[in-house]
Amino acid sequence: MPSSALKGLILAGGKGTRLRPLTFTTAKQLVPVANQPILYYALDSLVQAGIHDIGIIISPETGEAVKAAVKRWCPSQIKITFILQDEPLGLAHAVKIAHPYLKETPFVMYLGDNLIQSEILPLVKGFQKEKAAAHILLKAVENPSSFGVAELDKQNRVVNLEEKPKHPKSNLALVGIYLFTAEIFKAIDAIKPSKRGELEITDAIQQLIRSGKDVQSMIVKGWWLDTGKKDDLLEANRIVLDTYCETQIQGTVDENSQIRGRVEIGKGTKIMNSVIQGPVKIGNNCLIESSYIGPYTSIGDNTQIQQSEVENSVFLEHCKLANIPGRIEQSLIGQECTIIRAQNRPAAYRLNLGDQSTLELL
Ligand code: DAU
Repeated sequence: MPSSALKGLILAGGKGTRLRPLTFTTAKQLVPVANQPILYYALDSLVQAGIHDIGIIISPETGEAVKAAVKRWCPSQIKITFILQDEPLGLAHAVKIAHPYLKETPFVMYLGDNLIQSEILPLVKGFQKEKAAAHILLKAVENPSSFGVAELDKQNRVVNLEEKPKHPKSNLALVGIYLFTAEIFKAIDAIKPSKRGELEITDAIQQLIRSGKDVQSMIVKGWWLDTGKKDDLLEANRIVLDTYCETQIQGTVDENSQIRGRVEIGKGTKIMNSVIQGPVKIGNNCLIESSYIGPYTSIGDNTQIQQSEVENSVFLEHCKLANIPGRIEQSLIGQECTIIRAQNRPAAYRLNLGDQSTLELL
């Protein structure tokens, strides 16, 4: 069976409450990591594995934005089917409503807010060869209670799975990439919503195990990132820049500026009298003037930074930052934000922050 016989299912619905305030106006799967929506990493990963028929779960609130972003990404040979989930009733509920699209075809399910370093093609091949009902990926983590948790026996067979247990039986978290055959639909029909009111995919896989089906597992090599919260997102940005950022300068850099390490600078961007210390990615049509941009920073298109220092941060598009004393660090700044201090004046603060914004003066 060539991998093109498999379908892909990306979950890009849900509410994204843990990434507020950014997710008041955008889908969490569209927040950029190294200047690219997280969702594109999932799409690229499926396409790399030879999967060209992909369903995407969307929500009523952010579905149109997801569709528009996928349209900008979509290579012509890829078939995309959008599946509207009226309410975020759980990962297994999303799979259930995708049944008419998936039919009886085996599929790779990819959570649209997850990123992994390794390619999934070897996994897909292994799954096709072994013919298990499901194949799950696991990774040892420090905080297993925040995830689905797997318990293995001495032969490394999965014997038990639990969603976000208070007292986890192991430190092995379920990674948000799963391979399923059509057996999963019967398992989903046999489970009930969890205490948080969701149909859990973890419970459906546990149901497969209970009914004697073969569920295989593999420990993921390399990094795995779940971008659910601000610090996870900054960590994802740091790791992705560290892994993939290459020097590529398309804009202009004046003779008073220094570019150190791996730095990507987009078209139409001007760097004047500044130091850029990579890994750093700066988008198109930005202006960086008399400033320091430190490692692990991604700056979206059309952003201006003047007389300021920034490090380890993510700026979305169309931001303005000027004359900031001290250094902006560990920060996540949404689209069209303005952070400006009037020059030669004692510092005072005039703020206009959206709901659930955070301003930390350290
Ligand atoms: O990241 C890995 C974890 O993902 C696993 O360890 C857990 O077992 C699994 O339940 C899941 O937990 P999360 O709490 O992180 O899932 P979250 O609600 O963040 O949803 C994951 C993705 O699926 C996200 O892109 C939103 C989307 N989603 C979520 C729900 C609940 C949907 O499309 N529909 C939904 O109904």
